[in-house]
Amino acid sequence: MRLDKFLVECGIGSRSEVKKMISSALITIDGAICKDNNKSVDEKNSVVEYNGRRVIYKEFRYYKLYKIDGYITATEDKKEKTVMDLLPDWVNKKDLFPVGRLDKDTEGLLMFTNDGKLAHEVTSPKKHVDKIYRVVLRDEIGEGEISQLETGVDIGGYTTQPAKVEVVHSKEILLNIKEGKFHQVKKMLKAVGNEVLYLKRETFGKLTLDDMVPCEVREIERDDII
Ligand code: URA
Repeated sequence: MRLDKFLVECGIGSRSEVKKMISSALITIDGAICKDNNKSVDEKNSVVEYNGRRVIYKEFRYYKLYKIDGYITATEDKKEKTVMDLLPDWVNKKDLFPVGRLDKDTEGLLMFTNDGKLAHEVTSPKKHVDKIYRVVLRDEIGEGEISQLETGVDIGGYTTQPAKVEVVHSKEILLNIKEGKFHQVKKMLKAVGNEVLYLKRETFGKLTLDDMVPCEVREIERDDII
């Protein structure tokens, strides 16, 4: 692979940024400074360093995003802004796609990868990956509705699996579900006669938002997820 492409794919910078690094003699291959963008690199065996630090090529990449309202979960769309538009330049977008789906108006944790196997694993209902949503409600929630949500509700021909509810206050809950049906949280709350006014996903498997700020993106490791 060409040196500049290699550095971009490793997430070191955008194409123009890595070209600048190369011309500024900041890149070495097997210990020798390389100022040639086109130099061929063996992804596995060449020792490429940037500012003296080894640059490792990763076949699979994983990122987490703090999604904001107004973006649809898709890789492209003719009319709407997509979550791909929230990824900064340093993210290598080649073959990257969002894992699972958040509605246009839902905020919070969304993962991206180019690893199809992992994506399938974490979205498969059989895997039971926990997802915790912060839900702001139109009406106060009572014990009866909580118990219904925890047991399972009919969301239109499908009964949801048992969920966990933690009450933050009378109009705000943390809802933990292991499935990811279309509009599931909104449909669950509708099924108990309430309405979701605001929805934010706070965890996905082992992943959390930590101290991320809206629109922030962080690279993560495979083992951080499940
Ligand atoms: N459930 C919903 O209703 N919407 C989401 O975006 C995610 C879960």
